[in-house]
Amino acid sequence: MFHADIKDVAMVTSVRMAPPLPLIFLLMIHGVCSQKEGVIYSPSHICAVNDSTVTMRCTYTYPTGYNIMKVFWTKGPFQKDVEPPDLSNDTEYSQRLQYLGDKQQNCTVRLSHVTLKDSHMYCFRFITNTTTGKWTGYPGVTLTVTDLQVESPERVTEGDSVNLRCKSSCALTDRATFIWYRNSQPLTERRDRNNELLLQSVRREDSGRYSCAVDGHTHISPAVQINVMYPPKNVSVLISGSGVIVEGDSVTLNCISDSNPPAEISWIKGGTIVGSGRIFSISKISSDDSGEYKCKSINEHGGKYSDAVTLNVMYSPRNVSVLINGSGVIVEGDSVTLNCISDSNPPALNFSWFKGGRNILQSGETYSITNIKSEASGDYCCSARNKHGSQTSAAVNVNIMYPPRNVSVLISKSGVIVEGDSVTLNCISDSNPPAEISWIKGRTIVGSGRIYNISKISSDDSGEYKCKSRNEHGEKYSDNVTLNVMYPPRIVSVLMSGSGVIVEGDSVTLNCISDSNPPALNFSWFKENETSAVGSGQSFSALQSGRFYCQAHNQHGSQRSDAVTVTVHHRSSWHEVFGITVECGAIFILVIIIIIVILFIIKKRRSVKNENITVKEISDPNEDTYTALV
Ligand SMILES: *[C@@H]1O[C@H](CO)[C@@H](O)[C@H](O)[C@H]1NC(C)=O
Ligand SMILES: *[C@@H]1O[C@H](CO)[C@@H](O)[C@H](O)[C@H]1NC(C)=O
Ligand SMILES: *[C@@H]1O[C@H](CO)[C@@H](O)[C@H](O)[C@H]1NC(C)=O
Ligand SMILES: *[C@@H]1O[C@H](CO)[C@@H](O)[C@H](O)[C@H]1NC(C)=O
Ligand SMILES: *[C@@H]1O[C@H](CO)[C@@H](O)[C@H](O)[C@H]1NC(C)=O
Ligand SMILES: *[C@@H]1O[C@H](CO)[C@@H](O)[C@H](O)[C@H]1NC(C)=O
Ligand SMILES: *[C@@H]1O[C@H](CO)[C@@H](O)[C@H](O)[C@H]1NC(C)=O
Ligand SMILES: *[C@@H]1O[C@H](CO)[C@@H](O)[C@H](O)[C@H]1NC(C)=O
Ligand SMILES: *[C@@H]1O[C@H](CO)[C@@H](O)[C@H](O)[C@H]1NC(C)=O
Ligand SMILES: *[C@@H]1O[C@H](CO)[C@@H](O)[C@H](O)[C@H]1NC(C)=O
Ligand SMILES: *[C@@H]1O[C@H](CO)[C@@H](O)[C@H](O)[C@H]1NC(C)=O
Ligand SMILES: *[C@@H]1O[C@H](CO)[C@@H](O)[C@H](O)[C@H]1NC(C)=O
Repeated sequence: MFHADIKDVAMVTSVRMAPPLPLIFLLMIHGVCSQKEGVIYSPSHICAVNDSTVTMRCTYTYPTGYNIMKVFWTKGPFQKDVEPPDLSNDTEYSQRLQYLGDKQQNCTVRLSHVTLKDSHMYCFRFITNTTTGKWTGYPGVTLTVTDLQVESPERVTEGDSVNLRCKSSCALTDRATFIWYRNSQPLTERRDRNNELLLQSVRREDSGRYSCAVDGHTHISPAVQINVMYPPKNVSVLISGSGVIVEGDSVTLNCISDSNPPAEISWIKGGTIVGSGRIFSISKISSDDSGEYKCKSINEHGGKYSDAVTLNVMYSPRNVSVLINGSGVIVEGDSVTLNCISDSNPPALNFSWFKGGRNILQSGETYSITNIKSEASGDYCCSARNKHGSQTSAAVNVNIMYPPRNVSVLISKSGVIVEGDSVTLNCISDSNPPAEISWIKGRTIVGSGRIYNISKISSDDSGEYKCKSRNEHGEKYSDNVTLNVMYPPRIVSVLMSGSGVIVEGDSVTLNCISDSNPPALNFSWFKENETSAVGSGQSFSALQSGRFYCQAHNQHGSQRSDAVTVTVHHRSSWHEVFGITVECGAIFILVIIIIIVILFIIKKRRSVKNENITVKEISDPNEDTYTALV
């Protein structure tokens, strides 16, 4: 292509020059044309990398008879009647341009530190000692300066085969050797193929900033980030803090996962999803949070679980309780084991036992009592301790059952019991559970209940009493207590030896018979209608006629008998004979009467008593009167 201002420049093809490739054009200015003049650029097209040094090789010939005055390199645009500028005078080039040729035939020039702006056609011009002898070798050397660009696929996934191409805007020579850099480090492996870098089956380590350069040139392409995508790897859980986790602590689990792009994290406890996000926080951990945790890391290239980590939340004992082995009733003599049950982590190893609030010297988890005694009854509790604290159980009542013992009878009245008194018998008995009490008099059950009341005691209530105490574990009798009911004399009568009719000078003995408790020891004898006593003692000898009665005393009272009549006859024969017969008849009648009276008394006494009871009159007056059951 010719510039409009240099239309008059003729183009001549030199046939002399052998190499076919570099076309030779001779620019003839001002009509000067000769086959002898010409400039040969070899090569005529140069592709150079930015910042490199370019040597434009060139030879020229000029007609003989001329003298070369000036040689220089210039660049377009060329204007008619305007002398093309000498690049050496151009500040842009002056420092970088170095003419290597001569003034004969070699017009090689070197341009260093080429930049993209230097992309031009450059021509050699020489001036001879004739006014018209000025030539410019046109077209000149076309210099294309190129930068380098790494061409890479947009997405790279692990395992892919990736081709990186170091791109230039013009074709660099085949001899150009490309150098690849990752993160500014040259890649030593020579995997280059022309201007391509083939990464076979990329790994995530292949990620990085890639750039390329041409060997021998300083220019390096801008770096291109190769981001190798890969599924999560090395997924693991980090637990905040170290060591022991105690209830109430704040615990943070961190899911460490290596993936590209970053993965979505979810947290799994047991088989359940409990959270999401890289951090899983438990602000106040409780024992319920104990368990195995793992995180699941997932991105579009795959997913992976971490190994499980175990949270073992420690806590002080709780729900401490005392368990009594066996569920039934504890009876004295049993063996009993108390267990201190507690929930704690780690398990409690220190135990204390308390009975009724007082420490027992017992420190095991179990407290065993063999052959238990009722004294062991009471409220028990235990305290369990681990290194995080302790707790004391509620009290458990141990109630030891036992049969009645120490059964005894208490009498309300101390001392003498007199007929008519109110007497209360109290059965004292120690048993668990409380016993049922029954009262036995002699061999007959007479009542029940702890208290046996006799509101107005009579002599019939005298006897041996005991109580029987009985619960489901046994029974026991108290000792006998004797109720001896005192009463004043009663049924006092006079027993007369003989008929009661005596002869003057004789005497008749009267005996005072009485029933009393204690037996009456004090007797007084009276003659009817006389105020003062006529005698004392149980028997009395009557010497004179009259109606006599006795009065029996004991400490509880006295009672008088009916009067008996004593008749004294004066001694006379008439009277004797008559009297004897009369007396005989009278004595006979009297004896009959006495027998009837005695029989009557006995009968009357019998009818008073119970059928089962017999009355025994003890002849010895010093003896007590007994009433005995048959
Ligand atoms: C070319 O090289 C020069 C000097 O090193 C530099 O300043 C310039 O940015 C480069 N140009 C390009 C497009 O790389
Ligand atoms: C140019 O120089 C040559 C050699 O010195 C000489 O022969 C020739 O005459 C000169 N031409 C002119 C026009 O001066
Ligand atoms: C180039 O500079 C030289 C001096 O360095 C000067 O003699 C000459 O005339 C200049 N040429 C042009 C075309 O400006
Ligand atoms: C031209 O000069 C350069 C630098 O001195 C040299 O490398 C090159 O081989 C020369 N070219 C020819 C054709 O002599
Ligand atoms: C993943 O786990 C393995 C085995 O525990 C370990 O060797 C590796 O360094 C871990 N990788 C990362 C990125 O933590
Ligand atoms: C244990 O105690 C807790 C409260 O401290 C109570 O909620 C729970 O029901 C108790 N468990 C048992 C088995 O008594
Ligand atoms: C309680 O346990 C002890 C010992 O284990 C045993 O000898 C006793 O019979 C048990 N008592 C009951 C009521 O189960
Ligand atoms: C708990 O029991 C152990 C061993 O019997 C004892 O060494 C410790 O002192 C006890 N701790 C308490 C608080 O009683
Ligand atoms: C009860 O009887 C026991 C013997 O059985 C005796 O050791 C104890 O002292 C008695 N207690 C009373 C209050 O009588
Ligand atoms: C108690 O009295 C009854 C009846 O009188 C008698 O059979 C029993 O032997 C007496 N017991 C004692 C211990 O005296
Ligand atoms: C027994 O008698 C006493 C005194 O008379 C009386 O207070 C008490 O209630 C009586 N007890 C019974 C069980 O009759
Ligand atoms: C005693 O006195 C009573 C009247 O006071 C009389 O009836 C009775 O006959 C008297 N008896 C004698 C023996 O005097």
